[in-house]
Amino acid sequence: MVPLKRRKVSSHPAGGSGTVYGGHKEPNQFPQVVLFLLERKLGASRRAFLSQLGRKKGFQVEEVFSERVTHVISENNGGDEVRTWLLSQVGGHTPAHLLDVSWYTESMAAGRPVEILDRHKLQEQQGNEAEVAAFSVPSYACQRRTTLENHNTVLTDALSLLAENAELSEEDGRGVAFRRAAAVLKALPKPVASMTQLRGLPCLGEHSLRVIKDILENGASSEVESTKQSERYKALKVLTGIFGVGARTADRWIRDGIHNLRQLQDSGPTLNRAQQAGLEHYDDLNQPVSKSDADAIGEVVEKAVVSVLPGAHMTLIGGFRRGKLTGHDVDFLITHPEEGREVGLMPKLVSWLESQGFLLYQKTTRNSYLESKDGPARPASNMDRFERCFSIFKLTKEEKRGTKHPETLTENGAQTPDNGGLDLDLDLDQTKPAGHKPWRAVRVDLVVSPISQFAFALLGWTGSKLFERELRRWAGHEKSMSLSSHALYDNRQSKYLRATSEEEIFAHLGLEFVPPSERNA
Ligand code: UTP
Ligand code: MN
Repeated sequence: MVPLKRRKVSSHPAGGSGTVYGGHKEPNQFPQVVLFLLERKLGASRRAFLSQLGRKKGFQVEEVFSERVTHVISENNGGDEVRTWLLSQVGGHTPAHLLDVSWYTESMAAGRPVEILDRHKLQEQQGNEAEVAAFSVPSYACQRRTTLENHNTVLTDALSLLAENAELSEEDGRGVAFRRAAAVLKALPKPVASMTQLRGLPCLGEHSLRVIKDILENGASSEVESTKQSERYKALKVLTGIFGVGARTADRWIRDGIHNLRQLQDSGPTLNRAQQAGLEHYDDLNQPVSKSDADAIGEVVEKAVVSVLPGAHMTLIGGFRRGKLTGHDVDFLITHPEEGREVGLMPKLVSWLESQGFLLYQKTTRNSYLESKDGPARPASNMDRFERCFSIFKLTKEEKRGTKHPETLTENGAQTPDNGGLDLDLDLDQTKPAGHKPWRAVRVDLVVSPISQFAFALLGWTGSKLFERELRRWAGHEKSMSLSSHALYDNRQSKYLRATSEEEIFAHLGLEFVPPSERNA
């Protein structure tokens, strides 16, 4: 690098920055005009040529877009396209003029910036944009109130699918970017009508904006459609639909030529106990769980909890606590008002449920969180350090009584899952066709927390996943604190901040309290 001081003095005989301007003209003859040529559709070499030409004529042509730019020049782009591109640039700065390359070439010919005529201006899409107000939302999802009322489901479904595809491909960074973009749209009070309304919104990167624009203009995003149709995505969906199978296992199987359940059964890789159970109950576990199912299971678990430890207390957490009407599983948090009394509760609870025939599968992990030992160093990884039981619950017709349609499961309005076009009868001990058996399998997660950590566990397990992630990001980036489902640590004061309610934790974090029903980010 040439030091700045030396660069300014263009005393170099040849080469260096002096030659860029060349000719007899002084550089920067028109200080109020700062040009930027958009490479999109213009091409890199034509852009370089035109930039060089402009500089020779004494125009200030910027290499990199910045706040200083007053005139953006482009070729074969509509105003909306250029605006979309501008949105992807930091700061959301919009220069005064968005012009066609014809203005530039005419100015080159005239040796000065010519008057801007209507024909030089980029065509904006019709529709009275002044009437369509731009949206504004705070940048962290935990600063926003996101109810289940989503006015932009077409857009958020598309972005969520791309997020899911990225996660299934173990590209977590991209996944989070799409999740954040979707979350911003979920928080908008109205459907998005035009790209210009998105100006200034946080978390909308170039990629997400391209998807949104595609959908607003063409009704669909080609990338989303082709992802949905891709063999790899379909195979990943089917295989990770098996409880116990994650993205990595599915990827390995796909590389071994296994794309669906039949091929999995035929080629028979060794399955662990969870995966065997997952495969056996595949259809049931891919049916959405209704709130009434969750309540019926809640009654059983409550009964179990109080009979093994009187005084213990159970709370419905996860999506159902946020008011969702369906879920992929049911999550419960259990504690006891006296610290320490919860120790040993989980094995007793599991035995009780097992002895009554409620568990089709269970795996319990012990509590491995020790504040004195773990410290606040890696709070994000403490997410599943509680004593926890992953189970498959057998929900019988009897337990479901009291719900509206106890006769059959399909009358709940639940859709049949896509199992890759196969109609496998995986419940081998069944004689009746699927959907007519008197019970269904449901994924149930049980978590036990000591009362001292209860508020943190409650907050951490209520979700949504993105809301949680944003809370931790806010804590770390804005407050220099570390938040986990166990504790909140203030790095500046080097001490733990205690809390007995979610409200207190929000207050510690300097955030307005957001009730569970508004955490659906
Ligand atoms: P879920 O995956 O059950 O999501 O996690 P959900 O919001 O209930 O949605 P459904 O079930 O798909 O309808 C619930 C919450 O528990 C936390 C997640 O962060 C989420 O907020 N969680 C989950 C953990 O903290 N650790 C885990 O290992 C799993
Ligand atoms: Mn859940």
